[in-house]
Amino acid sequence: MDVNQLMATAKALMTEGKGLLAMDESNPTCNKRFAALGIAQTPEARRAYRDLIVTTPGLGDFISGAILFDETLRQQTNAGISFVDALKKAGIIPGIKVDTGARDMAGFPGEKVTEGLDGLRPRLAEYAAMGARFAKWRAVITVGDGIPTWSCIEANAHALARYAALCQEAGLVPIVEPEVLMDGSHTLEQCLAATEKSQHALFHQLYQMRVDLRGVILKPNMVLPGKACPRQDPVDRVADVTVTCLLANVPAILPGVAFLSGGQSAELASQRLQAMNLRFQGRMPWALTFSYSRAIQQPALELWKGQPANIPAAQRALHQRAACNSAARRGVYNAAMEKHPGQS
Ligand code: 13P
Repeated sequence: MDVNQLMATAKALMTEGKGLLAMDESNPTCNKRFAALGIAQTPEARRAYRDLIVTTPGLGDFISGAILFDETLRQQTNAGISFVDALKKAGIIPGIKVDTGARDMAGFPGEKVTEGLDGLRPRLAEYAAMGARFAKWRAVITVGDGIPTWSCIEANAHALARYAALCQEAGLVPIVEPEVLMDGSHTLEQCLAATEKSQHALFHQLYQMRVDLRGVILKPNMVLPGKACPRQDPVDRVADVTVTCLLANVPAILPGVAFLSGGQSAELASQRLQAMNLRFQGRMPWALTFSYSRAIQQPALELWKGQPANIPAAQRALHQRAACNSAARRGVYNAAMEKHPGQS
């Protein structure tokens, strides 16, 4: 393990004013989003969509790294070059999702555990040889009646830490993603309790597995009420509770934190990131940025609809969301930016 190389990658991913773009939807997830908009659910449609994203002019001004799915890593752009090379050309570091999905946890109704450790070492070696510089593994924590259990939190934290150790061995920076879901009617306080436990357990396991935190990035959920909760807390409260939770549970030596969006609207995801960076300016030991999928992509996907003629409009929308989140990462986002597509 070359810790200097890991630290250099992590630092580059956390470049001032930039964040990550998650474009690593598994085929079933991508197909579900395509189906909702009447887009063909084929390998070629998925390739064309990822081509649209990667060739968006100026994307590298706001995006430091992009997370790919295995299928995309093996495909080529319209110009006949690999997606890895296209990203590098755009100044974006290529990464890869390596978990194989969250499955029902035996004995724990309503809870899931993420799979993918079997055979991970040779898969990571292959991805590194193909040009990936970092990886992602997502654990899913559900809030509900009597859940999450410690058993679920610990099983997921253990898997995340074993994945992270293997990544570092292969020279890849692990992004560790313990996601407390927004599904349900739970309160912000219930989300906070689950998020604290998940982060605390995760860093304990990373320590146990001898993972070097200087080469790790945390991808957490924001602390939010469930989508169906009647009380939807204001932006500033979400910002304060989320950052306070991180300060209490995330070691200062970690280079960065990059949030998932988790089903928030695109504008709320920008507003909340902005509030955190503004209100805690100079008081956070790590960079605080985004690693959004839906909150960056959704407006573009809705404009594209699978039609080549819509590509320029979709690319403008993608650029706009990347610019807004870049501004939020710097603490200079404001509502007026939503009215002027392309402005940073
Ligand atoms: P969302 O931003 O849509 O939550 O996706 C982020 C991600 O990478 C989920 O694993």
